[in-house]
Amino acid sequence: MLECGWDKVATKVNFNLEIDSTRLLEMTDRKSKVLDFGCGYGRISNELTELGYTEVTGVDPSREMIERGKKMFPWLSLLQSAGTDLPFEDNVFDVIVICAVFTCIPSLEERSKVAAEITRVLKPGGIVHVSEFCSEESKSFISGLGLLMRYSGPQEIRDMFADCSFFQDEVVSARTMSGEAASSYRAFIRKPLNKAMHATSA
Ligand SMILES: C[S@@+](CC[C@H](N)C(=O)[O-])C[C@H]1O[C@@H](n2cnc3c(N)ncnc32)[C@H](O)[C@@H]1O
Repeated sequence: MLECGWDKVATKVNFNLEIDSTRLLEMTDRKSKVLDFGCGYGRISNELTELGYTEVTGVDPSREMIERGKKMFPWLSLLQSAGTDLPFEDNVFDVIVICAVFTCIPSLEERSKVAAEITRVLKPGGIVHVSEFCSEESKSFISGLGLLMRYSGPQEIRDMFADCSFFQDEVVSARTMSGEAASSYRAFIRKPLNKAMHATSA
């Protein structure tokens, strides 16, 4: 069974960071196969479904988050899975949405494994939409929830997807869960058409 610090807070938190749904709708087809990576209790999966996306799957390593999501949104497809070992074939998703997840992965080594796994399951030409809390300079800190987090500067996120092209990336105003003013980095990232990824054997 996966152990996850997010289990302890799964019933106590309400996430609030927004994705750029307007641009997402402009750039992608509602019939796209969409992965909500680090879906928590399914808030963004549900928003995507309400926006009209018909094939949305959420994955999160926290069993308790997934349990909460299944109760709140029983119509969603939510799965528990480690972010570095997704239960999907290579090159299957058209779109992957990642909202406030890298913020919760302070280890740069784990982040690059996660980025590689996301790229593996994304189709060539597919789009990743990232929305993350950010700061001018990257910094790790213990959050009010008692969990270690890391705000990245935009370049740190760009470096994780160095083989892909970035477009529409920007820093916008946001609020933390406790209502404090913050910044959010949003980007759309395209996997090259000539880059079919394959799982590497251990
Ligand atoms: C701040 S919450 C955001 C949840 C959701 N994306 C939202 O915006 O409502 C971060 C989520 O990332 C998940 N997470 C933490 N480490 C992860 C990892 N290594 N791989 C995938 N998800 C992870 C946590 O379990 C948690 O549910």
